[in-house]
This record gives sequence, C-alpha cells and structure tokens, in this order.
Amino acid sequence: MQAQLLDWYDREGRTLPWRIRPEERAQGQIADPYAVWLSEIMLQQTTVPHATPYWRKFLAEFPTVIDLANADRDRILAMWAGLGYYARARNLHKCAQVIRDEHEGVFPSSEAQLLKLPGIGPYTAATMAAICFDEATNIVDGNVERVVSRIFKIEALLPKARAEYRRMAGTLAPAERAGDYGQALMDLGATICSPRTPECGRCPWSNFCAAYKNGVQLDYPKKVKKTKLPVRYGAAFVLTCDNKVMLERRPDDGLLGGMMGFPGTSWGDKPCVPLDHAPEKRNWEKCDANVRHVFTHFELRLDVYRAQIVETVSEGVWAEIDDLANYALPTVMKKVFAVSQN
Ligand code: ADE
Repeated sequence: MQAQLLDWYDREGRTLPWRIRPEERAQGQIADPYAVWLSEIMLQQTTVPHATPYWRKFLAEFPTVIDLANADRDRILAMWAGLGYYARARNLHKCAQVIRDEHEGVFPSSEAQLLKLPGIGPYTAATMAAICFDEATNIVDGNVERVVSRIFKIEALLPKARAEYRRMAGTLAPAERAGDYGQALMDLGATICSPRTPECGRCPWSNFCAAYKNGVQLDYPKKVKKTKLPVRYGAAFVLTCDNKVMLERRPDDGLLGGMMGFPGTSWGDKPCVPLDHAPEKRNWEKCDANVRHVFTHFELRLDVYRAQIVETVSEGVWAEIDDLANYALPTVMKKVFAVSQN
C-alpha cells in the first residue's frame, strides 16, 4: 500500500508553493521549516486555494521567522484578517518570538521539541517533523481520517473515536519517506477521496478499500449527528464622518481577540435593546439587511445601525474607508460594513 501511494504521489501529487516535490529534492532542494509551518497553520482552517495568497503575502513581507518575530502584532492580525481563528495569528507571532529568543532563529527538528512551541499542536508537530526532517510520525488530519475510515470501514463515530482512527492510520505509516507519504495521504483525501464525490476509479488504494469493495464509500466516515448551532444576537454600529469610519479594538481575551471591529452590543441568546449600547446618541438608522456569520460554536445574527456625523469624536479609532483593508477587520466585521453601505 505504501509503495502504491508513493508512486501515485510521484506522478500525481499536487505542486504547492511551499512543497518540495520528490524530483526537486533529488536535485538537492530542502523544505524550509518556516514556510512549511506557515502553510500548515493556515491550512488547518481553510483550503489550499484560499490559504495560498495569504501564504505568499506573509512570505513576501516576512521572508524569515525573525522578520515575523520582529513584526508589529497588529500588522500580523491585519494580514491574517479573513483567515479566521485569530488566536492562531496571535500564537503565530508568539511562536516566532520563541524561535528568535530561545532557538537562535532555527526551528527545532523533532516532533517532541516542536510540540513544545506555542500554537504547535500534535497535527502540526507531526506534519512538520515528517515534511521537514523525515521523522516517521503519524500524520492525521480530517482528510486522512476520511481515507482510513473508508479503507478499514471503521464503524466508530467521529469525533468521539478519533483515537481509533489515529491508531489505524498509524498501522499504515511507513518508516521511510515519511514526509512524502504524509503529504500523499493528505493529497489523496483532498483530491480523490473527497467527501461526496470520491473518484475511486483513479484511486491508488481502491484495491485495498473495504468501503469501496462494498460500494458504501459515501457512508464513511461515520459521524455523531450534528446538533444545530445555537444562535446569538447582537447589534453593530457603523458611525461615519466624511471618508472615515469609527472602529474599536476588541479585548485580547475574547472571540476575535485583538482584532478591530465596529462598536456594538454584547452577543446574547435574545435580541437586546440595541440603542442603549450605541457609542453616541445619534439618529441611528437601522439597515435593511442584517449579518449572519457562523463561528465554530454558534451562529451570530447582527443588526446593523448606521449614522453620520460632521466632526469626529475622540472615542474609538477613525479609519479612512479606503484604507480599511489595512486594518485587522475580521470577516464578520467586513460583512457589517458592507451591509451599512447598501
Ligand atoms: N493539507 C494540509 N497540509 C497539507 C499538506 N502538507 N499536504 C497536503 N495537504 C495538506
């Protein structure tokens, strides 16, 4: 199985900007742990096409981990805006600083040492150790879970039985070419062994796949039934003055911590009386549309209010509207602004 997968990867594995393909390695190129680390942190929350432009921007502005460590945190948050999970961006900066201050600017080269760094969990440590240092680790992400669930026709439910999927994945992992194997397995899950339209006719493992043999590949992985996300409600206030708009920084510890946003109510189980929380007593106009945004643990519905004033007030941060792209505005706040402009 290992040989079949690696042959497939040699022929059909993806070419990605941070990836050293087997033929490039044969010519002496080696993976840059910093570039791989950035890509893996970004790819934990989104797809290759969405993450790639962010990765390119980060590498262009911060070519080394020292450059990233020395950067303004706010600049990093602004560049991360749109990727979500902003605690990851804060940890990215912390990790770069630890590498600068305690590791002489060089990423440690084993899974166990990588695991000690801020923001590097079991997945990232295993993946970096394999890709960068060819350590024979067991790489398991959502794609790999789907592949092994089908190969072995695992009946146990995700996410509860995650440990069993990990153990089964471990039985397949080779001692050699660990990095190529891990990337091959993730590529297989991302391209051929997709959730709803797997292309089993092209799969290097179809001969070994218990689910395929039984024609039930779409029934795997088995998952605990999702309960509907709870809904939270709130309001946001867009106050403009000429070409400027009022922002405020969100507290470091909460959701979207350290990011910029529009002033607003807190978010609760029931709609509250919004205008009690408005930043200024103005003729607030309620916008026709509202904003819906799905976070990991709840769905948020925000009413949007807008008002204009003729002179800025001392409260908040006044941002040029044309310059909003340079602020750390998370996607939900970009949606608020868009609604306020209709
Ligand atoms: N998804 C996340 N990291 C990946 C990698 N290194 N190769 C393929 N797919 C991935």
